[in-house]
Amino acid sequence: MKDTFYITTPIYYVNDVPHIGHAYTTVACDVVARYHRLKGERVFFLTGTDEHGENILRASEREGVMPTQWLDRIVPSWQEVWERLMISNDDFIRTTEERHERPVQEFFQTLYDQGDVYLGSYEGQYCVSCEEFKQAGEVIDGTCAIHGIELELVREDNYFFRLSAYRDRLLALYDERPEFVQPEVRRNEVVSFVKGGLQDLSITRTSFDWGIPAPWDPKHVIYVWVDALLNYATAAGYGTDPGRFASIWPADVHMMAKEIIRFHAVIWPAMLMAADVDVPRQVFAHGYLLVGGEKMSKTKLTGIHPFQLIDHFGVDAYRYYFLREIPFGQDGSFSWESMAARYTSELANGLGNLASRVLAMVSSYFDAVVPEPSERYGRGRLADAAVAMAKRFDSGMLALELHEAAAALDEFVRETNRYLVEVSPWTLAKDPSRRQGDVGRPGARDED
Ligand code: MSP
Repeated sequence: MKDTFYITTPIYYVNDVPHIGHAYTTVACDVVARYHRLKGERVFFLTGTDEHGENILRASEREGVMPTQWLDRIVPSWQEVWERLMISNDDFIRTTEERHERPVQEFFQTLYDQGDVYLGSYEGQYCVSCEEFKQAGEVIDGTCAIHGIELELVREDNYFFRLSAYRDRLLALYDERPEFVQPEVRRNEVVSFVKGGLQDLSITRTSFDWGIPAPWDPKHVIYVWVDALLNYATAAGYGTDPGRFASIWPADVHMMAKEIIRFHAVIWPAMLMAADVDVPRQVFAHGYLLVGGEKMSKTKLTGIHPFQLIDHFGVDAYRYYFLREIPFGQDGSFSWESMAARYTSELANGLGNLASRVLAMVSSYFDAVVPEPSERYGRGRLADAAVAMAKRFDSGMLALELHEAAAALDEFVRETNRYLVEVSPWTLAKDPSRRQGDVGRPGARDED
């Protein structure tokens, strides 16, 4: 029986080091995972690396090493970033691990045996950075609309998954469970995409061999995307530990940016339906971190490494800034100016100042022991503000409106600072007769 809140990041392509776009997703998931743990839930928070496909093969060729050597070099540099960012993932899956590769082979063998996979041929424009065949509307002058790189004409005999057969079941899923794809704008996109008709999906490649061999025809390797999607199941014990899998699956949230929503909201549930496995509860796509109006990406040389910002602002400020700044679900830009401005006003002058004032007062007036709240006036305005903040924070977190949760915290800090200025406890504390009761009493200063 499922007893665990399960949240995932995409597994990232390790053809290069991470940038703050990758960190944006991972920090957001970490914040959600930590919140559910705080609420006393059992949590499984997964991240990892996508290690097969042409992307990775070409990166290793560029470096003149074997893919495995490249991976041994690059994967630790991702893990180091997550450690520094205090990411509390419970597991880290690599798609070259045995616990992943074997269940992937079994999964596709089953689909093949039951007739969901057939041999056909395909010709299309392929983007190696997306690892995806592109449709006409996704191509600009022969280049990928996301990465701006030249598309490659690929013509191959491949095995296909009968994706088209799942159209009606997918539409029923979106209809019966509107929360399955969120936010709403993405849900609408996915629904109209599927309504427009689905083509069967090429799920093997033969032009290179850096992948998991298809067990029924080992000249073929399994297409990197369908291999990768299965990480969410294999890391939870699919194919290796059925008891564990039952306690974790289905995933509560698969989080990602919007460019890969179709893989998660169309192909992935169809694969699971084919294998008679429950589909995840929600697929949530946030927006892009933009540079000059375009998605930040290493391919376009616009990636900023998280350490560049952490070295300057520290980890907590880094984590706070991105969630506070960008409405979660929409595109947003990072700028040094806005980060420095929030750092100064909200963290240094807001939270920092509040903490230092309160700690200084507790230290000088109450021998560094937090006093019991006064009973004399019942609950004051600050307590009410704290309760309202907690409610707003909670609903923001549960609806994945993470910017709302961050704003609730910031506003509470402001309110508390305003309160201190109005009540001026440093004056009250000097009068021994009023010290206990009046600290915290709204408007007490008026009577001074
Ligand atoms: N390997 C696939 C995912 C497989 S999941 C089964 C992949 N990898 S990726 O390295 O390209 O990572 C894409 C993800 O990184 C995005 O969906 C998002 O989570 C994050 N981001 C990468 N660049 C980003 C921005 N510029 N802005 C926001 N998020 C970004 O796709």
